Amino acid sequence: MTQNTNIVLDLKGIEDFVSQAELNEIMKEAKAANEVLEKGSGLGNDFLGWLNLPNEITDEQFNEIEAVAKELRSKCDYIISIGIGGSYLGVRAVVEALNNSFEAYMPTHKNPQVIFAGHNIGEDYLSELSAFLKDKQFGIINISKSGTTTEPAIAFRILKAQLEEQVGKEEANKRIVAITDSSKGALRTLANQEGYKSFIIPDNVGGRFSVLTPVGLVPLAVAGVDIRQLVQGAKDLVSQVNTQVEVECNISALYAAARTALYRKGKKIEILANYHPKMHYIAEWWKQLYGESEGKDGKGIFNAAVDLSADLHSMGQWIQEGERTIFETVISVLSSDNKLVIKEDEHNLDGLNYLAGKRVDEVNKMAELGTRMAHIDGGVPNLRVMMPALNEYYIGQLFYFFERAVGMSGYMLDINPFNQPGVEAYKKNMFALLEKPGFEEATTEIKSRL
Ligand code: PA5
Repeated sequence: MTQNTNIVLDLKGIEDFVSQAELNEIMKEAKAANEVLEKGSGLGNDFLGWLNLPNEITDEQFNEIEAVAKELRSKCDYIISIGIGGSYLGVRAVVEALNNSFEAYMPTHKNPQVIFAGHNIGEDYLSELSAFLKDKQFGIINISKSGTTTEPAIAFRILKAQLEEQVGKEEANKRIVAITDSSKGALRTLANQEGYKSFIIPDNVGGRFSVLTPVGLVPLAVAGVDIRQLVQGAKDLVSQVNTQVEVECNISALYAAARTALYRKGKKIEILANYHPKMHYIAEWWKQLYGESEGKDGKGIFNAAVDLSADLHSMGQWIQEGERTIFETVISVLSSDNKLVIKEDEHNLDGLNYLAGKRVDEVNKMAELGTRMAHIDGGVPNLRVMMPALNEYYIGQLFYFFERAVGMSGYMLDINPFNQPGVEAYKKNMFALLEKPGFEEATTEIKSRL
């Protein structure tokens, strides 16, 4: 099933802030950046595997992933997806966007429930998870490209031991899937030694661009997501944003150009706003993609996100009247899956009869429109990404739309969008403080500062 509409970018909300002539100038840079991406001639060009990924996934790969997912689905009521950063956020974004909001409270489940671990070092979180799993049938998907990240490694050590205790080592090994590098890292060594089913994360795809590799596809297939539609959406978007397309029609180039124009005018903070509670983790995924790609060399837009209308009753005040260094990108989901009409009430004590006959979604849409207009009037430029519906296909499109755009805007910022050297600083200090072997000198140095 190929859907014949695409996500759409609406730039009307920046017209008061960026002139068409300014935008046209910057579009030339976006065009050039897109060409550099495609030629592979820019910074970080050894990490461009994501560019054509949606076109390269084969039927054989889908079949293998689906077969492994089927096996896990038949044995497990709960799947613990262990990972952090790019090895976590894409999966959570899709699961939360597509699941029934109350799935976790339901007595029975159509699909195994995905529970996340390894994205924090919370002792209470892990203890409570471990206690919850005591009488449950569960399996583990352990995701780490480097295979050495501390947070997921701790979660895996604890939950692996528990699984072995609950079902025996032989069965546990059948319920553990490793997704990691082809040859490097502790997770690869473990997977080979224990005989876990494993999948490879391509060398040339960085964590935050890896949602369409086994990193995202394996846990999502277990969760019952139609991974073929997800990839199809991304694939259809590739052909909308490559260099064959006129740059004025290229939504990723337009988004990259618009946010760059705003950044250069002092709008240093981009707030991604949604009006759909299921979009919360899509925004978390986006924050990582943009924050980790662009925040370096003393440059880059700061990425924040709000869930509206909830946050209109908290951060809304700041957005409306605070320091004017922000712009807003709204993701609008144009249709909702359910229909819920507000009824007439005989007594009308709540004064809501003026809404009688309207769908809840109509009210939400007016909240969105009214807020966008108020924010623009308040000096907040507004970009709007419209998704026809919240399903696998359009989420696939959205992922690729944002990935392609960050590659371009990173190059327009003259940085390498595909590395993350800054992430190492906290690790070095943490290892030194924990006296990890190999960090003796750093340990002495850091302890002298305490
Ligand atoms: O985008 C990135 O590269 C990072 O956020 C990583 O995904 C994150 O640090 C986890 O790394 P790994 O998959 O090696 O455990």
